[in-house]
Amino acid sequence: MASLPTAPLAVAPAGLQDHATAARKARFWDRIARKYAADPIADMAGYEATLQRVLALLHPGQDVLEIGCGTGSTALRLAPFTRRLLATDVSQQMINIAREKLAARPMAQLGFAVADADAQVFGQGIYDAVLAFNMLHLVSDLDLALAQAVRALRPGGLLISKTPCISEMNPLVRWLALPLMRAIGKAPDVLLCLDAAQLRAAMVRQGLRIEAVERHGTRGKDFRVFIVARKPD
Ligand SMILES: C[S@@+](CC[C@H](N)C(=O)[O-])C[C@H]1O[C@@H](n2cnc3c(N)ncnc32)[C@H](O)[C@@H]1O
Repeated sequence: MASLPTAPLAVAPAGLQDHATAARKARFWDRIARKYAADPIADMAGYEATLQRVLALLHPGQDVLEIGCGTGSTALRLAPFTRRLLATDVSQQMINIAREKLAARPMAQLGFAVADADAQVFGQGIYDAVLAFNMLHLVSDLDLALAQAVRALRPGGLLISKTPCISEMNPLVRWLALPLMRAIGKAPDVLLCLDAAQLRAAMVRQGLRIEAVERHGTRGKDFRVFIVARKPD
């Protein structure tokens, strides 16, 4: 493949209003992007286990969309096993870093774009899988973000997500650590406190069929809720 085609892996241009909203959401992530890129992965074994689980669900003939891709580390790992992967993030700075990494290791089937996952910017029925890792708790409208993901999927396509479910963590995280971190600018303003049942129910509301709900480890004791959900044929 010579170059990444602009279609079907495209992001529609956002309107002026959308730009302003997305810029507000991106502010925190833009500010921390370089540090985020420099920090080592907290639990490499857990990360690798999730990657292997995701790889087992993908195959090389597929068009894949990633939302909230951060600095693109996961997209760079997964893209060789897809036909095309478009990895998106609301933060221009995160995408800049992802593009730097891609420039250092060019891959024709991978592209990065700035896009807000809860705006209507993705195409309709053009992806075989949508990936959302460590980001569904960060969208301002979970139902809308899931609706956009489902809309982008082909019938039979998979939404594969891994999400920190803050409501299932030690209550001190929600009631003490997060407010403190927010007060000193170390946590984003938008942060949903979900549990696995709420996340699963939100997916079902969008017509998805849940195929797996798993707990994937991180930092040894904490876990992320990993859900595989299919858009019916
Ligand atoms: C915790 S990081 C996770 C990054 C990457 N998926 C990973 O697992 O390392 C969350 C990412 O979601 C992005 N994000 C937050 N809100 C978003 C939104 N509404 N649309 C798209 N991306 C968003 C942030 O900019 C950030 O890069």
